[in-house]
Amino acid sequence: MINFKKEIADLLSQKIESMSEKEISDLIEIPPNPQMGDFAFPCFKLAKAFRKAPNQIAQELAESIGEVALFEKVQNEGPYLNFFIDKTTYAKSLIENVLQQPEKFGSSDQGAGKRVIVEYSSPNIAKPFHIGHIRTTVIGHAINKIYQFLGYETISINHLGDYGTQFGKLIVAFNNWGNASEVEAEPIPALLKLYIKFHEEAEKNPSLEDEARLWFKRLEDGDEEALKLWQWFRDESLKEFNRVYEMLGIAFDSYAGESFYSDKMPRVLEIMEEKGLLKESKGAEIVDLEPYGMPPALIRKSDGSTLYITRDIAAAIYRKEHYNFDKNIYVVGAQQNLHFQQWMKIIELMGNEWAKDCVHVAFGMVALEEGTMSTRKGRVVFLEDVLTKAVERTKEIITAKSPNLENKDEIAKQIGIGAVVFQELSNSRIKDYVFSWDKTLTFDGETGPYVQYTHARACSLLRKAEVKLTDTIDYSLLSNEDAMNLIRLIQQFPGVVEDAARKYEPSIITRHIVDVAQAFNKFYHDCPIIVADHELQRSRLALVFAAKQTIQNGLSLLGVAAPERM
Ligand code: ARG
Repeated sequence: MINFKKEIADLLSQKIESMSEKEISDLIEIPPNPQMGDFAFPCFKLAKAFRKAPNQIAQELAESIGEVALFEKVQNEGPYLNFFIDKTTYAKSLIENVLQQPEKFGSSDQGAGKRVIVEYSSPNIAKPFHIGHIRTTVIGHAINKIYQFLGYETISINHLGDYGTQFGKLIVAFNNWGNASEVEAEPIPALLKLYIKFHEEAEKNPSLEDEARLWFKRLEDGDEEALKLWQWFRDESLKEFNRVYEMLGIAFDSYAGESFYSDKMPRVLEIMEEKGLLKESKGAEIVDLEPYGMPPALIRKSDGSTLYITRDIAAAIYRKEHYNFDKNIYVVGAQQNLHFQQWMKIIELMGNEWAKDCVHVAFGMVALEEGTMSTRKGRVVFLEDVLTKAVERTKEIITAKSPNLENKDEIAKQIGIGAVVFQELSNSRIKDYVFSWDKTLTFDGETGPYVQYTHARACSLLRKAEVKLTDTIDYSLLSNEDAMNLIRLIQQFPGVVEDAARKYEPSIITRHIVDVAQAFNKFYHDCPIIVADHELQRSRLALVFAAKQTIQNGLSLLGVAAPERM
């Protein structure tokens, strides 16, 4: 594919001595509307070196460039130099590239030889995998896929919340009031019930708390009975989590949760000690972070037990030593901002220059629209129920829309779950938002079903075609406005993927493929595809293919299926 930006930078660097090609390239913009060209170069920054007004510089540059084969014209407008790419060249360069390696369109090798850890999802054992976890799960999954697509080696980690004093409580509760078959039948609700029961009973009988602490200590010391119960809670919970991961098509490279680091803590505490970071405070040990404008971090309690933050410090060090990452990404809610700032600071104070490679990718909260769901298992809304309901509702919709569709169950799954994921990835991650069924499941507007439907429509056109895309294509037939608008958006896709990775922001891709889908539908509406003129049919179909492929690749990066029929 011709890199037009690079061509322009190259051309300009022959005319401009005061700037490097890179500086020039960084200034090149895509104008807000194509009447102003496909690319524009603002001349403000040249005023000093040229000792002239930007308008005049733009004019002189335009004159001196004159006619170049790649461009229909190069025009100055005010302080801008506008480049209009020859439409046939534009279409040919782009579509040929897509046709050559469809599935790779938008990918790159910028990450070759680099290793990135993406930690996401990380639910807590014996606690519900609720609607709040959906964001870390789908944002993390998308970020993992995006980095892979850009050539990075990624390692996805589910940092399960499988350790801490709550396990002592759970053991006490199970021993007193538990029932194994109940737990096996519905692990999380049963364990949650026990957990709640523990707190009710502990109000009346505070000695239960001591008992729980003792059990946790036994667990930390490797007591067989404690370990056995803990392992069983963990296995049963994971079974339930895995049902959700399967629905979402997600698997992790590692499920090393908090417990994995329990034996790695003493060494970490030693290093902190050596560096003089630990301070005693009421029998406990803390790191004073006041000089950095943060409250102190509690590292070890007075009873010797470690905490969530201690385990995060140990985990980061382990990951650096074990994986030697170039980047270590944590997709965790913004409520934990302070926690992440604290431990990353501590890692830095411990003398690890790689602290700068640890990134907290934060996100806002999801609220449920009033009356969204009645909850069969208490007050929390289980993610599994949301997904199941989305699939059921979708099945009703598609049954009404296309009664003869084959594989309705499978397709309802792809659309229903895709709709929820797409909706999650539509807003900038840091924004709080309200989950709404109506907005999520509609086939119109900026939704998953709309984009999937557009993709299926393109697939259907490609099936109906009477021509082959392997024959020579006359790209000059694609110079009308609707075609060009679509071509421009497709051309931007690789840059959009890079931008999404740089900003850890999958919504950039989500929004872009909505734009592609809209431009495709306009093109399809105004330019009939299956026409008698086979030359014309072939060129239009080639563009249909490129649009279909862009949507498909984009959806795949988001973790959303792209059914060919719906
Ligand atoms: N288990 C935690 C929770 O559900 C999230 C863990 C985030 N990851 C981490 N490395 N601290 O709130």
